[in-house]
Amino acid sequence: MSLNQETTTHESELVSDPAPLPQTETLLAPLRNALTHGALLSPSEVIISFAPYLNVLGKTFIPKTDLPDLTGRVILVTGGNTGIGKETVLRLAEHSPSRIYLAARNATKAEAAIQEIKDAVSGAQIEFLEVDLSSCASVKRAAGEFLRKEQRLDILINNAGIMGFTATKTTEGYDIQFGTNHVGHHLLTKLLIPTLLKTAELPELKPKGVRIVNVTSAGHYAAPSGGIVFDDINQEKAHMLTRYGQSKLANILETHELARRYPSITSSAVHPGLILTQLYDASRENIPLVGYWMVVFKGKLFMQSVEQGALNQLWAATSDEVESGVYYNPVGSKAMGSTYAQDGELARKLWDWTEADLAKHGY
Ligand SMILES: NC(=O)c1ccc[n+]([C@@H]2O[C@H](COP(=O)([O-])OP(=O)(O)OC[C@H]3O[C@@H](n4cnc5c(N)ncnc54)[C@H](OP(=O)(O)O)[C@@H]3O)[C@@H](O)[C@H]2O)c1
Repeated sequence: MSLNQETTTHESELVSDPAPLPQTETLLAPLRNALTHGALLSPSEVIISFAPYLNVLGKTFIPKTDLPDLTGRVILVTGGNTGIGKETVLRLAEHSPSRIYLAARNATKAEAAIQEIKDAVSGAQIEFLEVDLSSCASVKRAAGEFLRKEQRLDILINNAGIMGFTATKTTEGYDIQFGTNHVGHHLLTKLLIPTLLKTAELPELKPKGVRIVNVTSAGHYAAPSGGIVFDDINQEKAHMLTRYGQSKLANILETHELARRYPSITSSAVHPGLILTQLYDASRENIPLVGYWMVVFKGKLFMQSVEQGALNQLWAATSDEVESGVYYNPVGSKAMGSTYAQDGELARKLWDWTEADLAKHGY
């Protein structure tokens, strides 16, 4: 792939799906879900999610001084070409890892981001890894490419995500938000697990060296009744924020199950805060209230910078204080999450369901 070649035609766009069902839920539904699924039980946690600067118990984390030396480490960050992911790659690069794989679906954007980071950090070793998380074939190809090049993987940050999309589908027919945010990352993680486990056996990395960080959201409170609706997984009639909520709840449940299945890997889920990025572009178009908020307040009300947004995942990727299977508000603040987010049985069920469903597609 040449550096300047634009790859904006994603595999998911090549599938001709029947027209999506009309969304019948209004914005009230995800708000009601949030209130009934635990937000009222832990209002302080929810307030901190949206305004981390009010969290007097949150940790101070300064990447320059608090990140350890990463010499010899191999890192993979999905969605590293922009927003919080790009900031994460930049800050990690300043601490001399052996290599960082910046996984993204758009070669032009990825190469521009890599150049920008290399200009800022001389000697930074960053490689583009092409992956479209909305296509299992693309995920499998990307994992294969990584495994051909590397013997180890120290830190996997599943950061990429989309929000506020209408009910379109991935290549395999999953709702675009659930498929990208959960299914694509599940498959990628699963394919990389043997290498993560092998790396965790290196004596210098025991006991907590190898990390999986799943970037979730306080938006998981908006998941539908039942949390994950296995018999109507695409939730086509639900509000787009309900579907986003389901996908982000899946990120937390996946973390619980990773921690249970693979105790030698430290897996955590992090909410980055409310951060001004392109994540809100689709919501601005599709959800009038969000559009109004973004236009009138220009993203300034409650929102923080990408520098702030990267802190929780940088902390989770490196700090000795991280506990496996835990969901953290920024920065390093242990949180319960919604009632569904605390449900270990639901976590097991989601893992088994995802595995079985991927198997139907040959993955
Ligand atoms: N910003 C917030 O307030 C906020 C709050 C809570 C949680 N989060 C979470 O934080 C994470 C990072 O979000 P952000 O705010 O940095 O958003 P962003 O600036 O929009 O970045 C999202 C990244 O995900 C990538 N991506 C989207 N679909 C993909 C696909 N199919 N395959 C591969 N990569 C894909 C995007 O690539 P393209 O550039 O090609 O689109 C981009 O690199 C997300 O998981 C999000 O849910 C953000």
